[in-house]
Amino acid sequence: MLGRDVARAAREVGHEPVVLARAELDICDREAVERACIEHYPGAVINCAAWTNVDGAEEHEAEATEVNGRGAGNVAAAAAAVGASVVHPSTDYVFDGTNEEGYVEADAVDPISGYGRSKLAGEREVAAANPRHWIVRSSWLFGVNGRNFVDTMLGLAQDRDEVVVVRDQVGCPTYTGHLAAGLVRLIDREDHGVHHMAGGGRCSWYDFAVEIFRQAGVECRVLSMTSDMLDRPAPRPPFSVLISEREHPVLLPDWQEGLADYLAERAEAQVGA
Ligand SMILES: NC(=O)c1ccc[n+]([C@@H]2O[C@H](COP(=O)([O-])OP(=O)(O)OC[C@H]3O[C@@H](n4cnc5c(N)ncnc54)[C@H](OP(=O)(O)O)[C@@H]3O)[C@@H](O)[C@H]2O)c1
Repeated sequence: MLGRDVARAAREVGHEPVVLARAELDICDREAVERACIEHYPGAVINCAAWTNVDGAEEHEAEATEVNGRGAGNVAAAAAAVGASVVHPSTDYVFDGTNEEGYVEADAVDPISGYGRSKLAGEREVAAANPRHWIVRSSWLFGVNGRNFVDTMLGLAQDRDEVVVVRDQVGCPTYTGHLAAGLVRLIDREDHGVHHMAGGGRCSWYDFAVEIFRQAGVECRVLSMTSDMLDRPAPRPPFSVLISEREHPVLLPDWQEGLADYLAERAEAQVGA
């Protein structure tokens, strides 16, 4: 989902991205990653490959960590070996979600799920392997190239007139088109390290659903529930608002604007299909 938008955002500002899908490059294959970096000799590598099945990572944490930890380290190290910097997307799931003030870059991490632990392993591998890294924590992504919450809500509304959504998880929905442009901006900068970069503002999944139907002009009642009523394998951080305390943060538009841009792009894609 994010990878395709990153490729587009890079082209839009004049870069010539080499885009490798999983079938062309498995990031767990260290030698293959090294060969790819030697062949393409990039100035920067943006690693959008990851194990993103949050619930699946509870039962398969070792496999998730192989991709999100060791695989991420392979990419960062291979980039370093050819003098390239690395941009590494990470997640709000590295936090436990108990800080209702929101999280800044320096806050203590404490993941509560297998996925969160695997992504934290990746942050550490990347930082150790390549000093020219940007570890970019983002959250609640939605974009036209992947299944996401907005799609799910609009799909449900096609054959029912009410949905039930959790109200006790608060975060920052982020449109991948906006995040991708932000990630690409980083590669011309020198402020390496951890960055928080998510859609501006904050909301609960319930608020998000209400706004989705409002903006899409869809009649569907939204009822609320609490997370404990959803019996999901992986716990989610209840409050994971990402804030940046960097001097010059890359600020993304508010999540409502992200939603509007996403819905416009989705409508265009449907006309073109
Ligand atoms: N989605 C969110 O809400 C969210 C929130 C915060 C951060 N992030 C982070 O943002 C990044 C992008 O996420 P996304 O939502 O765009 O995920 P996505 O749509 O699931 O894309 C991940 C891609 O990685 C590929 N992949 C998996 N294992 C691989 C391997 N060993 N080698 C090469 N490619 C591999 C997947 O291929 P297959 O499809 O073939 O498996 C898929 O194309 C990830 O780092 C994720 O942790 C996501």
